[in-house]
Amino acid sequence: MDTAPQLGTSAELPADYRARLADLHVLPAWTLLRAVMPVGAAVQKAVAFHWPYARLREELLRAGDLVPVEKAERRVLALINPGLNPDSLATLPSIFFGLQLIRPGERAPNHKHIPAAVRVILEGSGAYTTVEGEKLAMEPGDLILTPPNHWHDHGHEGRTPMIWMDVLDHPLAVPLDISYVTPGKLATFGENTLDAGDTAYRCAGVAPYRPLGHKPPDYPLRRYRWSRVREALAALAEANDPTTPVHLRYINPETGDTAIRTLDFSARELRPGESVAIRRSSANRMFLTLEGEGVIAINGAEHACAHGDAVAVPTYASVTLTNAAARAPWRLLQVDDTPTQTKLGFYEEPAV
Ligand SMILES: [Fe+2]
Repeated sequence: MDTAPQLGTSAELPADYRARLADLHVLPAWTLLRAVMPVGAAVQKAVAFHWPYARLREELLRAGDLVPVEKAERRVLALINPGLNPDSLATLPSIFFGLQLIRPGERAPNHKHIPAAVRVILEGSGAYTTVEGEKLAMEPGDLILTPPNHWHDHGHEGRTPMIWMDVLDHPLAVPLDISYVTPGKLATFGENTLDAGDTAYRCAGVAPYRPLGHKPPDYPLRRYRWSRVREALAALAEANDPTTPVHLRYINPETGDTAIRTLDFSARELRPGESVAIRRSSANRMFLTLEGEGVIAINGAEHACAHGDAVAVPTYASVTLTNAAARAPWRLLQVDDTPTQTKLGFYEEPAV
């Protein structure tokens, strides 16, 4: 029950006083306080939403006909949460999802930016991302990191359209007035060893030798191959007790920290017939189906998902994932802002 005192309104103040405050660029905070700090329940603007890949894909391919890559820099359809201001280019208050198309022979020019970006490949083969000279192959399901202020470009040597989901944390950087891009002059495409990080960190538990105490690179692994993650998920699904959910986190192999610092990326596998209830929390969370099909119930409303479908889950929602298939596993990516919320001391899991 709301036991907080009723606060005064702006209308209760004399007009000349309000005008004098406005002239000084100050406002009576008590008249606006409840708008930013309501009693007992958070301000929530983002809503639950489901973007079906099949329909987005059609429009993205059309964008390929309508807009040359030189005119777009990156040919991306942004997934905009209906509850948020479209100008913020945000899928959730802390997360951006956008579907990018690159056609055979195209090049997206070299640049770097403050926000971190992670690519999740949905279809196609033969494209590359180059990060600070390291050429990273892109195969369906792979995660490719372009960390903050790292030069990167994309190219495509294959024969069919290449589509991936861009995940960025610019919604966190924009309100801080620090988000910008630096255009590059030259493409660095293919200048260095192919998948150097993937080779160096081939075996879990073993890292390149360096004298103890010497600092490893900040982001030593930039390509996480789906073929290996998928194999690990399948092995756990087989080996674990069937009541234990199968869930793996993408980490920095040198520190054990999250792959990028702001957002947590993890992969789940739901066995046929399995259902997983997720604890209610303050996290903003996205789900992206990579393989199979399943249902995401958000506060009781069901979203049936197939390959490439993205679903936004707002804060404090109750969420259940269900794989109703008889035989096929459902494999999906989860992206949430728990690293940022935890570092800021904001993260919570309410009791009810
Ligand atoms: Fe970029």
